[in-house]
Amino acid sequence: MRGGGPGCRVCRSGSPGHWCGLERGTPARGPVQAFAERGVRNCDLRKLPDLSVLADGLWCSFAAAYFPDLSSALTSWGKHLRSSGWIALTEIDDLFGHEPLSERARSLLEGYAADAWAAGRYDFHMGHKLQDHLERAGFAVCKALTVEDQELSFDGPARPEVLEAWQARLDRMRLLHEFCGAEFEQIRTEFLGCLASPRHHSVAKVCCCFATKLGG
Ligand SMILES: C[S@@+](CC[C@H](N)C(=O)[O-])C[C@H]1O[C@@H](n2cnc3c(N)ncnc32)[C@H](O)[C@@H]1O
Repeated sequence: MRGGGPGCRVCRSGSPGHWCGLERGTPARGPVQAFAERGVRNCDLRKLPDLSVLADGLWCSFAAAYFPDLSSALTSWGKHLRSSGWIALTEIDDLFGHEPLSERARSLLEGYAADAWAAGRYDFHMGHKLQDHLERAGFAVCKALTVEDQELSFDGPARPEVLEAWQARLDRMRLLHEFCGAEFEQIRTEFLGCLASPRHHSVAKVCCCFATKLGG
Protein backbone atom coordinates (compact mmCIF):
# COMPACT_ATOMS: atom_id res chain seq x y z
CA MET A 1 0.00 0.00 0.00
CA ARG A 2 1.22 3.49 -0.67
CA GLY A 3 1.23 6.49 1.60
CA GLY A 4 3.30 7.37 4.60
CA GLY A 5 6.49 8.10 2.66
CA PRO A 6 7.75 11.60 2.13
CA GLY A 7 6.41 13.85 -0.64
CA CYS A 8 9.85 14.18 -2.20
CA ARG A 9 13.37 12.87 -1.72
CA VAL A 10 16.65 14.45 -2.66
CA CYS A 11 19.83 12.36 -3.05
CA ARG A 12 22.89 14.28 -2.00
CA SER A 13 25.81 14.89 -4.29
CA GLY A 14 29.17 13.34 -3.36
CA SER A 15 27.65 11.08 -0.72
CA PRO A 16 26.53 7.81 -2.31
CA GLY A 17 23.46 6.35 -0.72
CA HIS A 18 22.63 9.49 1.26
CA TRP A 19 19.12 10.78 0.93
CA CYS A 20 16.83 13.18 2.69
CA GLY A 21 13.05 13.15 2.57
CA LEU A 22 10.97 16.32 2.36
CA GLU A 23 7.49 16.15 3.83
CA ARG A 24 4.92 18.66 5.01
CA GLY A 25 3.60 18.34 8.58
CA THR A 26 4.25 15.29 10.72
CA PRO A 27 3.31 11.68 10.08
CA ALA A 28 0.00 10.47 11.43
CA ARG A 29 1.71 7.67 13.34
CA GLY A 30 4.78 7.68 15.55
CA PRO A 31 6.57 10.42 17.47
CA VAL A 32 7.96 13.45 15.66
CA GLN A 33 11.46 12.34 16.68
CA ALA A 34 11.15 9.17 14.58
CA PHE A 35 10.22 11.36 11.61
CA ALA A 36 13.55 13.20 11.82
CA GLU A 37 15.50 10.01 12.57
CA ARG A 38 14.26 8.53 9.31
CA GLY A 39 15.98 11.42 7.53
CA VAL A 40 12.77 13.28 6.74
CA ARG A 41 12.73 17.06 7.04
CA ASN A 42 9.52 18.89 7.69
CA CYS A 43 9.02 21.49 4.95
CA ASP A 44 6.49 22.73 2.47
CA LEU A 45 7.45 21.87 -1.11
CA ARG A 46 5.69 25.06 -2.27
CA LYS A 47 8.43 27.14 -0.64
CA LEU A 48 11.54 25.11 -0.05
CA PRO A 49 14.00 26.41 2.55
CA ASP A 50 17.75 26.45 1.94
CA LEU A 51 18.60 22.72 1.97
CA SER A 52 22.37 23.40 2.05
CA VAL A 53 22.83 20.73 -0.56
CA LEU A 54 23.02 20.41 -4.33
CA ALA A 55 21.40 17.08 -5.02
CA ASP A 56 22.34 14.46 -7.62
CA GLY A 57 18.72 13.53 -8.01
CA LEU A 58 15.18 14.14 -6.94
CA TRP A 59 12.57 11.42 -6.54
CA CYS A 60 8.91 12.39 -6.19
CA SER A 61 6.18 9.76 -6.05
CA PHE A 62 2.47 10.56 -5.94
CA ALA A 63 3.04 14.15 -4.78
CA ALA A 64 3.22 16.02 -8.14
CA ALA A 65 -0.59 16.21 -8.43
CA TYR A 66 -0.65 18.45 -5.33
CA PHE A 67 1.07 21.09 -7.49
CA PRO A 68 -1.32 21.90 -10.39
CA ASP A 69 1.21 24.52 -11.59
CA LEU A 70 3.89 21.82 -11.58
CA SER A 71 6.27 23.62 -14.00
CA SER A 72 6.75 26.44 -11.48
CA ALA A 73 7.30 23.95 -8.64
CA LEU A 74 9.82 22.01 -10.76
CA THR A 75 11.70 25.20 -11.59
CA SER A 76 12.04 25.91 -7.88
CA TRP A 77 12.99 22.31 -6.98
CA GLY A 78 15.48 22.27 -9.89
CA LYS A 79 17.51 25.01 -8.16
CA HIS A 80 18.49 22.36 -5.59
CA LEU A 81 19.75 19.96 -8.29
CA ARG A 82 23.28 19.96 -9.66
CA SER A 83 23.79 20.58 -13.36
CA SER A 84 22.63 17.47 -15.32
CA GLY A 85 21.04 16.13 -12.11
CA TRP A 86 18.23 13.61 -12.55
CA ILE A 87 14.60 13.73 -11.60
CA ALA A 88 12.09 10.87 -11.40
CA LEU A 89 8.37 11.61 -11.13
CA THR A 90 5.54 9.11 -10.67
CA GLU A 91 1.91 10.18 -10.62
CA ILE A 92 -1.56 8.81 -11.21
CA ASP A 93 -3.62 9.94 -14.17
CA ASP A 94 -7.39 9.91 -13.50
CA LEU A 95 -7.50 8.42 -9.98
CA PHE A 96 -11.27 7.80 -10.23
CA GLY A 97 -11.00 6.33 -13.77
CA HIS A 98 -12.57 2.94 -12.99
CA GLU A 99 -15.39 1.19 -14.84
CA PRO A 100 -18.24 0.31 -14.83
CA LEU A 101 -19.83 3.26 -12.99
CA SER A 102 -23.23 4.90 -13.39
CA GLU A 103 -23.44 8.24 -15.21
CA ARG A 104 -24.33 9.96 -11.94
CA ALA A 105 -21.30 8.57 -10.10
CA ARG A 106 -19.02 9.46 -13.02
CA SER A 107 -20.42 12.98 -13.21
CA LEU A 108 -19.99 13.63 -9.45
CA LEU A 109 -16.41 12.26 -9.41
CA GLU A 110 -15.46 14.29 -12.49
CA GLY A 111 -17.11 17.37 -10.96
CA TYR A 112 -15.07 16.87 -7.80
CA ALA A 113 -11.83 16.53 -9.80
CA ALA A 114 -12.66 19.70 -11.79
CA ASP A 115 -13.38 21.55 -8.53
CA ALA A 116 -10.03 20.47 -7.01
CA TRP A 117 -8.19 21.65 -10.13
CA ALA A 118 -10.05 25.01 -10.28
CA ALA A 119 -9.21 25.61 -6.60
CA GLY A 120 -5.52 24.79 -7.25
CA ARG A 121 -5.64 21.91 -4.71
CA TYR A 122 -4.91 18.85 -6.82
CA ASP A 123 -4.71 17.84 -10.49
CA PHE A 124 -6.41 14.45 -10.92
CA HIS A 125 -5.04 14.31 -14.48
CA MET A 126 -1.43 15.14 -13.66
CA GLY A 127 -0.03 11.75 -14.81
CA HIS A 128 -0.17 12.46 -18.54
CA LYS A 129 1.09 16.05 -18.05
CA LEU A 130 4.40 15.17 -16.33
CA GLN A 131 6.43 15.28 -19.52
CA ASP A 132 5.09 18.71 -20.61
CA HIS A 133 5.68 20.21 -17.17
CA LEU A 134 9.23 18.86 -17.04
CA GLU A 135 10.06 20.25 -20.48
CA ARG A 136 8.59 23.64 -19.64
CA ALA A 137 10.69 23.74 -16.47
CA GLY A 138 13.94 23.10 -18.38
CA PHE A 139 14.37 19.34 -18.07
CA ALA A 140 15.17 16.91 -20.89
CA VAL A 141 12.85 13.90 -20.61
CA CYS A 142 14.71 10.65 -21.33
CA LYS A 143 11.96 8.16 -20.58
CA ALA A 144 8.17 8.29 -20.07
CA LEU A 145 6.16 5.16 -19.37
CA THR A 146 3.07 3.79 -17.66
CA VAL A 147 3.39 1.00 -15.12
CA GLU A 148 1.02 -1.58 -13.67
CA ASP A 149 -0.20 -0.90 -10.16
CA GLN A 150 -2.22 -3.38 -8.12
CA GLU A 151 -4.02 -0.64 -6.24
CA LEU A 152 -4.53 2.16 -8.73
CA SER A 153 -4.45 0.66 -12.23
CA PHE A 154 -5.53 -2.95 -12.69
CA ASP A 155 -8.28 -5.01 -14.29
CA GLY A 156 -10.55 -7.54 -12.58
CA PRO A 157 -11.67 -7.65 -8.94
CA ALA A 158 -9.52 -5.83 -6.37
CA ARG A 159 -7.88 -7.96 -3.66
CA PRO A 160 -9.34 -7.52 -0.13
CA GLU A 161 -6.41 -5.41 1.10
CA VAL A 162 -6.68 -3.18 -1.97
CA LEU A 163 -10.39 -2.67 -1.30
CA GLU A 164 -9.57 -1.79 2.32
CA ALA A 165 -7.01 0.77 1.15
CA TRP A 166 -9.58 2.33 -1.21
CA GLN A 167 -12.20 2.38 1.53
CA ALA A 168 -9.78 4.20 3.82
CA ARG A 169 -8.83 6.60 1.01
CA LEU A 170 -12.48 7.49 0.30
CA ASP A 171 -13.13 7.91 4.03
CA ARG A 172 -10.21 10.37 4.27
CA MET A 173 -11.61 12.49 1.41
CA ARG A 174 -13.60 14.95 3.49
CA LEU A 175 -13.97 17.38 0.59
CA LEU A 176 -15.35 14.62 -1.67
CA HIS A 177 -17.87 13.85 1.06
CA GLU A 178 -18.87 17.53 1.17
CA PHE A 179 -19.02 17.76 -2.63
CA CYS A 180 -21.31 14.71 -2.95
CA GLY A 181 -23.43 15.70 0.06
CA ALA A 182 -26.26 13.23 0.77
CA GLU A 183 -25.15 11.08 -2.19
CA PHE A 184 -21.70 10.32 -0.74
CA GLU A 185 -22.56 6.93 0.83
CA GLN A 186 -24.18 5.77 -2.40
CA ILE A 187 -21.20 6.89 -4.52
CA ARG A 188 -18.75 5.28 -2.08
CA THR A 189 -20.65 1.96 -2.12
CA GLU A 190 -20.92 2.02 -5.92
CA PHE A 191 -17.23 2.84 -6.40
CA LEU A 192 -16.09 0.05 -4.05
CA GLY A 193 -18.52 -2.33 -5.78
CA CYS A 194 -16.99 -1.36 -9.15
CA LEU A 195 -13.48 -2.15 -7.87
CA ALA A 196 -14.66 -5.52 -6.49
CA SER A 197 -16.46 -6.52 -9.70
CA PRO A 198 -15.04 -9.18 -12.06
CA ARG A 199 -15.94 -6.69 -14.84
CA HIS A 200 -13.76 -3.98 -13.27
CA HIS A 201 -11.51 -2.11 -15.70
CA SER A 202 -9.06 0.71 -14.91
CA VAL A 203 -8.84 3.69 -17.20
CA ALA A 204 -6.58 5.21 -14.53
CA LYS A 205 -2.88 4.98 -15.33
CA VAL A 206 0.26 5.27 -13.24
CA CYS A 207 2.73 7.40 -15.21
CA CYS A 208 6.49 7.76 -14.67
CA CYS A 209 8.90 10.24 -16.20
CA PHE A 210 12.68 10.34 -15.93
CA ALA A 211 14.53 13.51 -16.93
CA THR A 212 17.76 15.44 -16.47
CA LYS A 213 18.29 19.10 -15.76
CA LEU A 214 19.42 21.10 -18.76
CA GLY A 215 21.99 23.88 -18.58
CA GLY A 216 23.96 25.05 -15.57
C1 LIG B 1 -0.26 10.42 -1.95
S1 LIG B 1 0.98 10.78 -0.75
C2 LIG B 1 2.38 9.95 -1.43
C3 LIG B 1 3.32 9.51 -0.36
C4 LIG B 1 4.58 8.75 -0.84
N1 LIG B 1 5.48 9.64 -1.59
C5 LIG B 1 4.22 7.52 -1.65
O1 LIG B 1 4.60 7.45 -2.81
O2 LIG B 1 3.56 6.64 -1.10
C6 LIG B 1 1.32 12.49 -1.12
C7 LIG B 1 2.38 13.08 -0.23
O3 LIG B 1 2.69 14.39 -0.67
C8 LIG B 1 2.88 15.20 0.47
N2 LIG B 1 2.65 16.61 0.15
C9 LIG B 1 1.57 17.15 -0.46
N3 LIG B 1 1.70 18.48 -0.56
C10 LIG B 1 2.90 18.78 0.01
C11 LIG B 1 3.60 20.00 0.23
N4 LIG B 1 3.08 21.20 -0.15
N5 LIG B 1 4.81 19.94 0.82
C12 LIG B 1 5.35 18.75 1.22
N6 LIG B 1 4.73 17.57 1.04
C13 LIG B 1 3.52 17.59 0.45
C14 LIG B 1 1.81 14.68 1.44
O4 LIG B 1 2.08 15.07 2.75
C15 LIG B 1 1.93 13.18 1.22
O5 LIG B 1 2.91 12.60 2.02
